Amino acid sequence: MKGPKVTVVRHPMVLEQLTLARNKTTNQIAFRKAIFRLGRLMAHEFLRTLETQEFPVETPFGKTTGYKVKGNDKIEIILILRASIPFVDGMYKELPMARTGIISAWRGKAPAFQIEINYSKIPDIHPDDIVIIADPMLATGHTLLKVARKTLERGKPKRLVFFSVISTKKGIRHVGKEFPEAEFYTCAIDPKVDEHGYIVPGLGDAGDRAFGSPH
Ligand code: URA
Repeated sequence: MKGPKVTVVRHPMVLEQLTLARNKTTNQIAFRKAIFRLGRLMAHEFLRTLETQEFPVETPFGKTTGYKVKGNDKIEIILILRASIPFVDGMYKELPMARTGIISAWRGKAPAFQIEINYSKIPDIHPDDIVIIADPMLATGHTLLKVARKTLERGKPKRLVFFSVISTKKGIRHVGKEFPEAEFYTCAIDPKVDEHGYIVPGLGDAGDRAFGSPH
């Protein structure tokens, strides 16, 4: 059976920033910066998949071919509170015209991992849009599935894309089963999820590391 389309971004700078994010001695400010840079680098990689439109341009010394990226004004990013904040902030550097939907999703305790969505504000989605759902940690896929379902209530896009810093095969399979046409972008695929739903080795709790632990 054909699996979902997965792109693992292995740019040298991605590897370096991912290492910083994984390292438990990286402090909160440096962690947020690393996640920000990973968002930017992943968006940069993603832009390779968009077509360009040619048009004539005049330089001070002559004529040449100019290019415009097609469709970068038809992107909607979905930000999941709270871990996605620095990730999406980095994505804006490459996708400044993106509209943004915001969803608050709370994952309950194992083994049920009940997901509660208690806030959502999502701009309409049109048939020629690209929707990128940004979740730094794709562990079991419970959160992403619920968020994707909620997002698609606003319309069916041309492309549905998931951005995660670290994923697991299990999470990708879980989400890909319901959304077989979706595309997954990630910087690493880690081997397992522990009994609390954390990716191992992963990078810890992305929200806590970026903003502080509530416990
Ligand atoms: N969410 C996180 O922040 N970290 C994980 O490892 C899994 C889910």
